[in-house]
Amino acid sequence: MASQNIDCLLEPFKLRNLELRNRIVMPPMTRCFSPQGIPTQDVVRYYAKRAAHGVGLIVTEGVAIPFRGCIHDEAVPSMFGAAMPAWKQVVDAVHAEGAAIMPQLWHVGLNLKPELEGLFDGNSQLRADQIGPSGLADGIGNPPRPLGQPMTDRDIAQVIEAFAESAFCAYEAGFDGVQLHGAHGYLIDQFLWASTNVRKDQYGGDAANRSRFASDIVRAIRRRTAPDFPIVFRFSQWKLSDYEAELAATPAQLEAVLSPLVDAGVDMFDASQRRYWEPAFEGSHLNLAGWAKKLTGVPSSTVGSVSLDNDAIRTLLGESAQSTGIERLIERLQSGEFDLAGYRAGRAHRNAQTLFAAVATQSGLACLCSEYDQRLLLAGHCASQALSSHVTASSLSNIDAVMLEFAVQRIAAHGQVGCGMAHVPSVAFGGA
Ligand SMILES: Cc1cc2nc3c(=O)[nH]c(=O)nc-3n(C[C@H](O)[C@H](O)[C@H](O)COP(=O)(O)O)c2cc1C
Repeated sequence: MASQNIDCLLEPFKLRNLELRNRIVMPPMTRCFSPQGIPTQDVVRYYAKRAAHGVGLIVTEGVAIPFRGCIHDEAVPSMFGAAMPAWKQVVDAVHAEGAAIMPQLWHVGLNLKPELEGLFDGNSQLRADQIGPSGLADGIGNPPRPLGQPMTDRDIAQVIEAFAESAFCAYEAGFDGVQLHGAHGYLIDQFLWASTNVRKDQYGGDAANRSRFASDIVRAIRRRTAPDFPIVFRFSQWKLSDYEAELAATPAQLEAVLSPLVDAGVDMFDASQRRYWEPAFEGSHLNLAGWAKKLTGVPSSTVGSVSLDNDAIRTLLGESAQSTGIERLIERLQSGEFDLAGYRAGRAHRNAQTLFAAVATQSGLACLCSEYDQRLLLAGHCASQALSSHVTASSLSNIDAVMLEFAVQRIAAHGQVGCGMAHVPSVAFGGA
């Protein structure tokens, strides 16, 4: 590969006054390693290590805002209150390594326990504190079903304020911007998506009205932070409850959803796709990030199986993914289709030739290895073996003991390993 191509990935990028050292983003990845919502020193080391390995921008795992029902697991970190001193340490450590960092602000809304990820403990029953735009929980590939009460005007105002409060805390702690989790069928997306938002008031109806909740959050964040504080909005077509779902069937429909967000102050879109090379709409090769940029004029970031030929969900279900190189990504970056690329290196690291291996050899960047993914994979493998008594002490010697115990418990209880959103179905290893 020509080094000039690699250079394009390593060029700096400016988002408002934020200078990113390259175009590589570590996308948000839920971890659930912050007991009572407070990041530990391990979390500080986790992010600092990824920064040290050359990534330009880190988007943190989804974090809790100060409003009820926003997360499913108490070990998801908070972005308010007692968690902030630890986040300040994370920010300082990441900055010391030359990377930028933004938290992903998250409210899950009426999303029940996602079956696929094995993300959350407990059963799939709605908790009393869960909220959604219309009291509708999306069903896997089925029409949404009624659950709970629609959010009141007061709920909406309070949630908007909670997002703004969290953003303010992040701003004060020195984060370089915030990302709003408007994707995958969580609360903000439940407002955007017509089938879970059937409200008759100003927050429901046409696309502009369905965007109003998100736009109001963006405006509130802008008011509480600063005119040049970057606000990134993550959106997707697919939902955890329905991978074939469509937020917008045409470019015009997408524009109707995204334009009000830009008017409200969004600085960049992060278009969450499972396979970044797939065209978003018929008749053009542009992917979702490409369309977001073309339709709104603001920069965009892509993600989804970069350097691999199969997506995260399918590999979680046991299919394999082979390396493909990054030529296609580079071409599209060079053409200006999108500006940044998210890359979850743990997946590709399990393959021989990866984006970062390619970059590392040509640029001196160290490989951005997500040891978290690998530890989990290994633990899942060994736990499956342990349960079927095929394991020896020596084959366990390089496995994190705590992780292994966790994996064994999960497999025994649920038939799969789950931790954060990463999980290893035991069937993939012929286990329990
Ligand atoms: C373990 C794990 C946790 C994730 N957590 C989040 C999250 O908190 N917020 C989010 O928007 N996306 C989350 N994602 C999706 C990723 O950010 C990314 O979009 C997806 O994995 C596709 O990229 P990939 O093909 O490089 O893995 C998660 C994915 C994984 C595998």
